[in-house]
Amino acid sequence: MRILVTGGCGFIGSNFIRHLLANHPADEVVNLDLLTYAGNPANLADVQADYAGRYRLIRGDICDAELVAPLVAEAEAVAHFAAESHVDRSISDAGAFVRTNVLGTQTLLQAALAAWGGDASRRFLYVSTDEVYGALALDDPRRFREDWPLDPKSPYSASKAGGDLLARAYHHTHGLPVLVSRCSNNYGPYQFPEKLIPLMILNALAGRELPVYGDGLYVRDWLHVEDHCRAADLILRAGRPGEVYNIGGGNERSNLDLLHALLELVAQRTGRDIGQLRGLIRHVKDRPGHDRRYAIDAGKLGAELGWSPRVGLDQGLAATVAWYLEHGDWCQAVTSGAYRDYYRRMYDGR
Ligand code: NAD
Ligand code: DAU
Repeated sequence: MRILVTGGCGFIGSNFIRHLLANHPADEVVNLDLLTYAGNPANLADVQADYAGRYRLIRGDICDAELVAPLVAEAEAVAHFAAESHVDRSISDAGAFVRTNVLGTQTLLQAALAAWGGDASRRFLYVSTDEVYGALALDDPRRFREDWPLDPKSPYSASKAGGDLLARAYHHTHGLPVLVSRCSNNYGPYQFPEKLIPLMILNALAGRELPVYGDGLYVRDWLHVEDHCRAADLILRAGRPGEVYNIGGGNERSNLDLLHALLELVAQRTGRDIGQLRGLIRHVKDRPGHDRRYAIDAGKLGAELGWSPRVGLDQGLAATVAWYLEHGDWCQAVTSGAYRDYYRRMYDGR
């Protein structure tokens, strides 16, 4: 397949492109990415070298209808990952979230409609999130299923729900072959160190404080990014158009439990004193409107497409701590402004 991946220089998109090229030797991938602070071509340096004939990066904005139209027309499938993805940033300023996550999604859908009509051989995957369902109480025995009403609580999740609703509306109204996946919290290599797991690993290594929002008893359902990539690939190829598929790891942990597990791993790998590492924990002001708990029922994806997660949480966290320890250069690079400006100039207009 010729696949247009949007946001392929981000955390999940870059892992997804690596997965596609390694597992589907006939696939060709065009990666459309604006290279915001979260998008780094360094995430795909190996891919650029190993799959030069089958991979191309174009720097550009998914809101740019003229740029997007021919790229979508030439593609047999679109895997739409591009987004503003960090909840805290959406609380400080929601503008870019509405623009990229709502308007950018609609721009891609419109381009697909214009080029493909209802051609059922094409595929448009909208990568949504479990946050569109809202929040569960800690003692609620239920997990989110696909028919759960959408009740997003943060500007981030509201903007993702906007894209999610538009994607399904383009299927319902125009017959566009749209698939929607709603995934739980991902972790693994190449995650930008503003999200909980890489932030805590890097802060612990540097001896910086470990900021736990509120009481730290908020619960997330963790999934290794490789398991997400396998699921997204499967849904893109074999999912039923118009359907929504939940993706989740069945690994509910409180933030404090997760943090203690990470600190144990850091102590084991570096020989640092676990007591000193734990002493870095600081309970700080809570995130406004903080969702208490997410929990995903991924039964439909298992029953219809035979997917189940393969990476256990203990194994995945150990591998992730090891990865961040071994990739100090990457951590430096992605947090350096000069580096990002360099790549912006390099790919501008391509
Ligand atoms: P990320 O922030 O790491 O990457 C986002 C990418 O999108 C970056 O490369 C960025 O440059 C690009 N981008 C942003 N605005 C753009 C624009 N206007 N035009 C083109 N490119 C643009 O995000 P991520 O964590 O990899 O998440 C990828 C997708 O998966 C998002 O849609 C997110 O909502 C969804 N998701 C993420 C998680 C998670 O745990 N990270 C879980 C479920 C769903
Ligand atoms: O559930 C899927 C979502 O998971 C995705 O749609 C989002 O793109 C992704 O960012 C993630 O959202 P969260 O808000 O759950 O992830 P984050 O890593 O920001 O926070 C995880 C939990 O840790 C959350 O309860 C807030 C808390 N936290 C986070 C940070 C950054 C802290 O306590 N301290 C911190 O410094």
